Amino acid sequence: MDIVNKDEIEKKGFIDLDVDKSIDIVEEIKLMRQQKNAVILAHFYQESEVQDIADFVGDSLGLAQQAAATKADIILFAGVHFMAETAKILAPQKKVLIPDLQAGCSLADSCPPDEFAEFKKKYPGHTVISYVNTSAEIKALTDIVCTSTNALQIVQSLPETEKIIFAPDRNLGNYIRSMTGREMVIWDGACHVHEEFSLERMLELKKENPDAQIIAHPECEKHILIVADHIGSTTSLLNYTIRDKGKKYIVATESGILHQMRKANPEKIFIPAPPKDSTCACNDCKYMKLISLKKIYNTLKYELPEITLEQDLMDQARGSITRMLEISDRLHL
Ligand code: 13P
Ligand code: SF4
Repeated sequence: MDIVNKDEIEKKGFIDLDVDKSIDIVEEIKLMRQQKNAVILAHFYQESEVQDIADFVGDSLGLAQQAAATKADIILFAGVHFMAETAKILAPQKKVLIPDLQAGCSLADSCPPDEFAEFKKKYPGHTVISYVNTSAEIKALTDIVCTSTNALQIVQSLPETEKIIFAPDRNLGNYIRSMTGREMVIWDGACHVHEEFSLERMLELKKENPDAQIIAHPECEKHILIVADHIGSTTSLLNYTIRDKGKKYIVATESGILHQMRKANPEKIFIPAPPKDSTCACNDCKYMKLISLKKIYNTLKYELPEITLEQDLMDQARGSITRMLEISDRLHL
């Protein structure tokens, strides 16, 4: 076996080794997965070929539920860092691998823990609800984590009189506030992908395709959500395209989800919503797209890079995530 240098992996974020061209990389990954009792969990925003090799493809809630329940010894997370961190916190005895440590999240980065701790001090007596797109440090400062699938129900599960801090996504927070009418203090963070959609270009597209419906993730800005026919998490958008009678959809979220939409509805047409930068046809999350089959192969082979967290931090962060899972379980989400 080649020698891999841990310091270099830390610096680059991934194992920079070529894969022998004569091997069938998909078959080799499947073989190693079986030999090592590993499970591959992939988010809907991953490259199609990565989604196709995964044991489970889902949204951030589904992936957390899978991580909490798996019997595998190794969890290989084909997604971004906060998702792999959440898996490690839920399954601390397991080895959690991520093929590229640089697979971050602009939304999680928009909420630095020290600034958030100061912000929280200004609102004593408030319950903190944080979107799962946050670091373990923010989860440790949180009462209940939520995802876009359950944010509405989690806010509604609290008594009317409860004062709420919602972090870090301003768009999801404003959307939940408008749906529930609840008073919420909202952290001013956002995702770079979901704030890139152009309303003007989208309405032009709609004019050219009057039979198309607009479906949008709640991380999009209000002016996009206002024109949407359906708003929801990635799973909710996918399920909508399956149960809806329509034939054409303009999809305002990261383009990776189109793979599952097309697989589930081969007869329907899916158009990625256009970003403000007209030189590009769709919106990709540069972090999600750092994961490749080659990196998955090397990661399974060498069992690196691994997610490691201080025990105390994991213990402090776990309560807010398990509270979310309990509420979601109760509500069959
Ligand atoms: P989901 O909760 O729909 O998986 O969304 C996660 C995410 O990162 C959205 O940008
Ligand atoms: Fe984070 Fe946005 Fe990428 Fe989702 S799409 S992982 S919120 S940067």
